[in-house]
Amino acid sequence: MLKSHSCGELNKNHIGAKVTLAGWVDRRRDHGGLIFIDLRDREGIVQVVFNPETSKQSHKIASEMRSEYVVRVSGEVAPRPPGTENPKLVTGEIEVIVQDTEILNPSKTPPFYISEDTEVEESLRLRYRYLDLRRARMRKNLLLRHQVVRFIRHFLDAKGFIEIETPILIKSTPEGARDYLVPSRLYPGKFYALPQSPQQLKQLLMVAGVEKYYQIARCFRDEDTRADRQPEFTQLDLEMSFIEEEDVLNLLEELFTSMVETIKPDCGLIKPFPWLTYAEAMERYGTDKPDLRFGLEVKDLTDIVAQSDFSVFRSALAGGGKVKGICAPGCAGYSRSQLNELNKLVQDLGAEGLVTMPLAASAGSLDDLTLEMVRSVAAKFLTLDQVREIAKRLGADTGDLLLIIAGKSELVDMALDELRREMGHRLKLDDPHLFAFAFIVDFPLLKRSEEGLWEPMHHPFTAPRDEDVPLLDTTPEKVQAKHYDIICNGCEIGGGSLRIYTAELQRKIFKLLGYSDGEIKERFGHLLKAFDYGAPPHGGVALGIDRIVMLLAGEETIREVIAFPKTQEAADLTFNAPSPVAEEQLAELHLYLREER
Ligand code: AMO
Repeated sequence: MLKSHSCGELNKNHIGAKVTLAGWVDRRRDHGGLIFIDLRDREGIVQVVFNPETSKQSHKIASEMRSEYVVRVSGEVAPRPPGTENPKLVTGEIEVIVQDTEILNPSKTPPFYISEDTEVEESLRLRYRYLDLRRARMRKNLLLRHQVVRFIRHFLDAKGFIEIETPILIKSTPEGARDYLVPSRLYPGKFYALPQSPQQLKQLLMVAGVEKYYQIARCFRDEDTRADRQPEFTQLDLEMSFIEEEDVLNLLEELFTSMVETIKPDCGLIKPFPWLTYAEAMERYGTDKPDLRFGLEVKDLTDIVAQSDFSVFRSALAGGGKVKGICAPGCAGYSRSQLNELNKLVQDLGAEGLVTMPLAASAGSLDDLTLEMVRSVAAKFLTLDQVREIAKRLGADTGDLLLIIAGKSELVDMALDELRREMGHRLKLDDPHLFAFAFIVDFPLLKRSEEGLWEPMHHPFTAPRDEDVPLLDTTPEKVQAKHYDIICNGCEIGGGSLRIYTAELQRKIFKLLGYSDGEIKERFGHLLKAFDYGAPPHGGVALGIDRIVMLLAGEETIREVIAFPKTQEAADLTFNAPSPVAEEQLAELHLYLREER
């Protein structure tokens, strides 16, 4: 090794020790006589001192050192002179008096500061990701990710799971996104598809008798990238045989409880994890992934305002829509511009607008409230009783702000979900040290596509509830699935189900989804054939590792916890991918590029 210790490990106990360190120049301060360098390696930072009286030669070399130079120093650990200790640094009580040094490699001036956590444009960070990853925050995130994956592996190993790799070059695996295709040199005109998930492979492993499988699996989906979505991401994929839904959910509860307690011991957890049905989640929060760190529940006000003359409500109801709202406690004093911001938020999401109704704190109580005290366009069209009834339904009191949206049901739910998150954030109810996990259950099996065709709510391998199987022939919309999601702090972190394991039922579902016999055979023949050879009852789940690490790290996007993420436009800026390829490569793959019109 070129070093005897790491920079971050040195402390008082090393005083007097001769050490050799190697790392990067984080900062350099030239105090005339003395040169101080904060030397950084993966473990942290230590101050090293070049004194011409100790070594003239070293002091001379140090005067050439600049930020991000790679250097090696040898010297003795000494206590810092009294009054110069730095309590912010783990190594702040000591320094290394350098006797010998060398520059291992100089560095150009980096395009942004590595030593400071200043805001840097993301595309610049991604172009120089190897420099970005040197920064303390990113180093911490990479380490956290490693700890999470290591924790998962130990946990599942102790529970009898075995890790099995599955292929990346396979065939289309429907999870609702577009496939990434790979052309074949050996089979002209034929393509592999990258897995959207190892779904069918893990099911085949159950047929193979593996019983408890897991994999830290890379998945590929050509879909719009967002804060919590990447074209290429990582799942903890697992599957078990001979189980019921509760077995999977109990396992997940134990996994996440012990993970948070081990890796984030200073954070809280809501235990036991609540179970919400899909219908209940939609009704109470307008979403199937509510942030349960706070209340601010959505309430349906349609019946109360049904008779009002307010045109906003009337036109929404005439179009078969809904009027719903939330209460923002203590926000009656919001300024015009604050209310405008909220209005803009919901309009940007496509809602017509936001009806704001502050209940003046000066009224003292709802009983003493008068219509004149309610500064709202809606107040002119509502009776005092209606306003009071709305307030009561929303659990509001004077001093609170009522936020109401009217329109198509899905739009109202979506906009109120966003508004609820925004208000939770503004009111500081989204405690970053609390993890509110929950299970969402009883999803419908199917939904209608825009063209009116049946589509799986999740994927076509999900089992319907046994008692609902007859409804497949009569009222498929009523069929509930043996599906569950796990959510945390308003983010869907995983989903899974018990699976169909007979060829007969699986074929029936494919038919309902509109596949012809030929398509079923071509696309899923391998699975149906396997089901004919003694497939055990089985089920499982897949968890988004990127999202879990993002939540534990307190980051806003999964890009912050992926070493080399793609941009929002699905580009890799470090390698500049995707990129054109040589004509010969295309020819070898039997491809030619059509002129884009
Ligand atoms: P699903 O499609 O719900 O289920 O994915 C499971 C979890 O994977 C994460 N995830 C993503 N993370 C980042 N970027 C993406 N583009 C992305 N897409 C999904 C989410 C999600 O909850 N085979 C089924 C699971 C099963 O039935 O066992 C599946 O993949 O956290």
